[in-house]
Amino acid sequence: MQNFIIIAIDGPAASGKSSVAKYLADKLGYLYVDTGAMYRAITYYALENGIVDDIDALIKAARNINLTLGYENGTTRVFIDGEEVTDKIRTPEVNAKVSDVSKIKEVREELVKIQRKFGHNNNLIVEGRDTTTVVFPNATLKIFLTADVKERARRRYLEFKEKGVDLSLEEVEKSIKNRDRIDSGRDVSPLTKAEDAFELDTTDLTIEQEINQIVEKVKEISDKKLNKQPS
Ligand code: DC
Repeated sequence: MQNFIIIAIDGPAASGKSSVAKYLADKLGYLYVDTGAMYRAITYYALENGIVDDIDALIKAARNINLTLGYENGTTRVFIDGEEVTDKIRTPEVNAKVSDVSKIKEVREELVKIQRKFGHNNNLIVEGRDTTTVVFPNATLKIFLTADVKERARRRYLEFKEKGVDLSLEEVEKSIKNRDRIDSGRDVSPLTKAEDAFELDTTDLTIEQEINQIVEKVKEISDKKLNKQPS
């Protein structure tokens, strides 16, 4: 029996998940869990230790890694063994490998265990690729975000540019398409829309418009819950 409210948001890279998830977490005071940051952290660790193509070593790392997530002022802060890796997990090198690491069943099992634990003691906003389908199939509200790949590439390109990362729009689009292909095509927990998820295409929406539509959905759910309570 699930006692806490869980709002789960899935969708491909740069579909608008993080913006709306952070907004809702701040507004509602819920814990924000960025599951992609966890897959990125394992990938970064594997790259640093030269084990990114060694499945057995990756599984061992996932079982033993000391991963801490925090959320502060709009940023998911990530630590491995106490060392901050917040920026290091969002590089083109990690992007190029993270989907391959995320295909490994045992790696997913370890991370899903940690993700579910967050829901034991907290109201949650959780985002990723399988949070509505596998991690929290009984989530209070499920949201599936999509957007045209060209628009998603444009958003990521601008983010990289702001950070001083020198990549062309074409390179960013190619990398996103590659991740889409692997994340949606893998055997274990592929990215897919849950039947009962609210689907929103954010291609032509500003962040404010996207947030407004989702806040409406959250209100609907809260009203339903209140109406169900005995007076
Ligand atoms: O959300 P993101 O772009 O930071 O996620 C990075 C990668 O991690 C994504 O391409 C696939 C993987 N991922 C996953 O397999 N399952 C999740 N729940 C979240 C992310």
